[in-house]
Amino acid sequence: MRITYYGHACFFVEIGNKKLLFDPFISHNPLTKVAKVDISKINPDYILLSHGHEDHLSDAFEIAIQSDAKVIAVYEVQQWFEKQGIPGHGMNTGGKWKFDFGTVKLVNAVHSSMLPDGSYGGNPVGFVVTNDHEGTFYFAGDTALTLDMKLIPMICPKLDFAILPIGDNFTMGYDDAVIASNFINCNTIIGCHYDTFPPVKLDHSAAKKTFSRAGKNLFLPEIAMTFNIKKK
Ligand code: NI
Ligand code: MN
Repeated sequence: MRITYYGHACFFVEIGNKKLLFDPFISHNPLTKVAKVDISKINPDYILLSHGHEDHLSDAFEIAIQSDAKVIAVYEVQQWFEKQGIPGHGMNTGGKWKFDFGTVKLVNAVHSSMLPDGSYGGNPVGFVVTNDHEGTFYFAGDTALTLDMKLIPMICPKLDFAILPIGDNFTMGYDDAVIASNFINCNTIIGCHYDTFPPVKLDHSAAKKTFSRAGKNLFLPEIAMTFNIKKK
C-alpha cells in the first residue's frame, strides 16, 4: 500500500487500484501551508470520513466535486453530503461492505460528532480496511482508548498497520495509544492528530520512546510524505 500523509488525520491510501482519502482537513490546517499541499491535485475515488467535526472534513466537499469521489461514512454524515449532491455509501457501526477496492468495516470510536452546520453527525467511527492481496489497516478516527478495540483482532483480519490519534486533549494521548496498539495486536503504528493546534502539541521523542519501550514502532511521517507498507 502506498500512503501519503496530508497532516492532522488526513491520509491518502492507494489500495486495490483505488485511491482513498481519509478525513481531509488541509486548506485550514496551518501546518499544511508550510508543507505546501495543493488540494486541487488530490483526486481520490473515495473519501472516508470518521465523523462530522470540521478538522476531519473541511475539504471533503471541494475534493469530492473536483474528483467525483464517493463519500463513505456513517449514515448521518453520508446523507448530509448526499443532500448537497455528493453521492456515497452510508454505513453504521459494526457493519461491513465490500467495495471494489476491498472491505470496509466500521468499528466503534469513543468521541462525539456534529456536522459544521450543527446537524447531528451520528456516531463517530473508525475504519478497518482489508484488501486480500495488499493487507489490512485500522484508521481509528478520533477516539479515546476503549476496550472495544480488543474486538478488532477477533473480528477482522490481522492488521498490518494502524493509524491512531496520539495528540491527547481531544483524543487519546500516546500513553493510551500504546495500550490501544496492544488491544488491536499491532506493532506498526502511524501517529496522527497532533501538533496541528496548541492543545495537541506532541513531545515527539517522548512519544517514540514510550512506543519503543513497549516493543512497538511509532512512525510520525512528515506532511506530504509518501511511504509504502507491505502486507506481512
Ligand atoms: Ni473530532
Ligand atoms: Mn479531530
